[in-house]
Amino acid sequence: MSHSVKHPLFARFYARLAQHEDERGNADNRHELLAGLSGRVIEVGAGIGSNFAHYPPAVTEVIAVEPEPFLREKATENAAHAPVPVRVVDGLADALPAEDGSLDAAVASLVLCSVPDQAVALAELRRVIRPGGELRFYEHVVSNRESRRKFQRFMDATIWPRMAGGCHLTRDTRGEIEKAGFILQRSRRFQFPPGAVGLPHILGSARRP
Ligand SMILES: C[S@@+](CC[C@H](N)C(=O)[O-])C[C@H]1O[C@@H](n2cnc3c(N)ncnc32)[C@H](O)[C@@H]1O
Repeated sequence: MSHSVKHPLFARFYARLAQHEDERGNADNRHELLAGLSGRVIEVGAGIGSNFAHYPPAVTEVIAVEPEPFLREKATENAAHAPVPVRVVDGLADALPAEDGSLDAAVASLVLCSVPDQAVALAELRRVIRPGGELRFYEHVVSNRESRRKFQRFMDATIWPRMAGGCHLTRDTRGEIEKAGFILQRSRRFQFPPGAVGLPHILGSARRP
């Protein structure tokens, strides 16, 4: 069955942007995101597979879920060169193709901004991670500065989600991860790209109780 995320223009733009951003330092963030993982992992909204090269050898399998057809095709090509076994599949964050508690970890990288409902996606991630397993996250989030927040709210209410494949700028993803019942282990906050034009990001890990 085919799933329903189709953003042909954004997908083509994002495929180039992701490579460009990796060259500008994002590859280091991806490396930090995945360091120390082991066992079976599910990655939701894998895009072109920019994370694949950074999975450590102790990871035995990655199920990479990507609903957008163009991005999924690129991810499938990139999976062939990954250092660990990666299976790219069609699917959505709110109905993950995995059994309850069957995975050691899940990875959400620049995707919880785009899912239609964060609470539903996080409940689904919690369902598939085993007790004691980890959610690794790397996400852009709402600004701490009121003037910036106002601008972000304006963008979210107007053109941004339509331009950027359903992305939202004003999400408090760290708060939502905790509300979903995960126990925060660590979360680093920083601007990326560095400097005034960057967006606030969080990168860290939360445990499924
Ligand atoms: C900004 S891209 C990030 C891609 C990749 N994770 C990365 O780190 O570069 C957002 C991704 O989320 C995917 N996506 C959007 N809605 C989704 C949903 N409901 N379920 C799963 N993935 C979704 C998009 O197709 C896209 O690949």
